[in-house]
Amino acid sequence: MVEIALETRNITKIFPETVANKDISFKLKKGEIHALLGENGAGKTTLMNILYGIYMPTSGEIFINDQKVIIRSPLDAIKLGIGMIHQHFMLVETLSVLENIILGLKEYGFVINKKTVKEKLKEIESLYSLQTDPNVKVWQTTVGEQQRIEIIKVLFRGANILILDEPTAVLTPQETQSLFKILKKMKDDGKSIIFITHKLEEVMQIADIITVLRRGKVVKTLPKYKTTKSELAQLMVGEAQDCNYLRKKRETNEIILSINKLIVYSDKGTKSLKGIDLDVKRGEILGIAGISGNGQKELVQTIAGLKKVAEGKIIFNGLDITNKHPRFISRLGINYIPADRLAMGVAPNLSGIDNAIMRRYYRFPLSKNGVMNYIKALAYTKMMAKAYKIKLDNPFAPIKLLSGGNMQKLILAREILENPKLLIASYPTRGLDIASTQFFRQKLIEIANKGKAVILLSEDLDEILSLSDRIAVMYEGSIVGILKAEKADKNTIGLMMTGAST
Ligand SMILES: Nc1ncnc2c1ncn2[C@@H]1O[C@H](COP(=O)(O)OP(=O)(O)OP(=O)(O)O)[C@@H](O)[C@H]1O
Ligand SMILES: [Mg+2]
Repeated sequence: MVEIALETRNITKIFPETVANKDISFKLKKGEIHALLGENGAGKTTLMNILYGIYMPTSGEIFINDQKVIIRSPLDAIKLGIGMIHQHFMLVETLSVLENIILGLKEYGFVINKKTVKEKLKEIESLYSLQTDPNVKVWQTTVGEQQRIEIIKVLFRGANILILDEPTAVLTPQETQSLFKILKKMKDDGKSIIFITHKLEEVMQIADIITVLRRGKVVKTLPKYKTTKSELAQLMVGEAQDCNYLRKKRETNEIILSINKLIVYSDKGTKSLKGIDLDVKRGEILGIAGISGNGQKELVQTIAGLKKVAEGKIIFNGLDITNKHPRFISRLGINYIPADRLAMGVAPNLSGIDNAIMRRYYRFPLSKNGVMNYIKALAYTKMMAKAYKIKLDNPFAPIKLLSGGNMQKLILAREILENPKLLIASYPTRGLDIASTQFFRQKLIEIANKGKAVILLSEDLDEILSLSDRIAVMYEGSIVGILKAEKADKNTIGLMMTGAST
């Protein structure tokens, strides 16, 4: 029996500005969960895209079951039993779950018959305890559900090798645990899994073996039982780092944002905010905790002017901003970092420069008398990339070619550089590597230290606890409690998040 499901030998991928992969040799065994680690821009996604036929390697070879293969397209990959769940989901929002699952199958040479499709779907769902409603449209589903749909889609195509590119970045801790159950089951069935993450706890929990990439090269491959989190962190960044955030404690009671009895309806017509009362003070980081789907997203979108207020008021620095235009609100100094970076954070097909200057291209010094100065725009972009350690090798190329983490860094840098009076940061460190996570957490603290305010949304309770001054917990569209950070602990918050009264 062949032991090795997939092997790469000396894979190199050179883009015009970047050597993304250099001589990568990598073995994936059958029935193995292989974690792939590395800093933002290390080359993880590129390597996976090569295995999935999205890119051809510049040089190097790929073997499946000891046979040399050439993977020219995702179709080739699928035929070889490779399935990929991308860093950014690829579902068609306006189609139903079922339509998404069978989308393209005909072209792949499968025979589509509604009855057999439904039967096969049931089989997969019960085998892996993956529940979905095949008839709902994708836009109506949560990210957790969308990921389950992506997994079903891949299993439906008969994959034996599964590539998951940062699958947990968008998941709640609970959703992550159910994903891990599915992955373990797949492993027990003899499937092989490549799992990319920036979260070392997850690696220690789920991986059998770990490969660390740095600047496009393999630093080391090692079994999990022989390593530790700190060794892995060291391998990734080259040096161990301690995080001691420089937080100045300040007591202010000056209210910068005041929300009164806020009621907002969801797109489906149900109440997503049921009468929220909340004050944000100058100089504080206010954390908002909650299991996703309990109104946090609607709350911050409403403050940013992206959702309509049905009842209630939002007052910012004494000014009523209820139902004002998002641009009006942002000009007052409220900046918003959205959760969904590809859909809301960037214009994917525009260049790095265009995305970097999006907030200020019309202002002096980037524009004068209505004419934009592209040289100044380029200089501004380069300054941003340097100051915020964004790997932006070609600022003229479409932003979607950046690595996921670097795209996120650009969004963060762009909003922080606007010098906000109130920064709303939704999942700011999602997809960032360890060093960048610390860097940007420190930036958020600096904003608060300067006497501005931050609203922090995060699914990572450790992040919320280590940064916030106060923590508001949301459940089913209401705030069920506000805790001072020094008096809060994970258990209490966790219980409140599930609606258990304390
Ligand atoms: N199509 C492309 N054209 C030019 N450069 C690219 C292209 N795709 C990726 N790159 C570059 O290759 C490098 C590696 O990117 P990659 O997406 O593989 O990183 P990553 O390890 O997945 O990082 P992250 O953790 O941020 O997702 C980056 O510098 C990126 O800008
Ligand atoms: Mg990536």
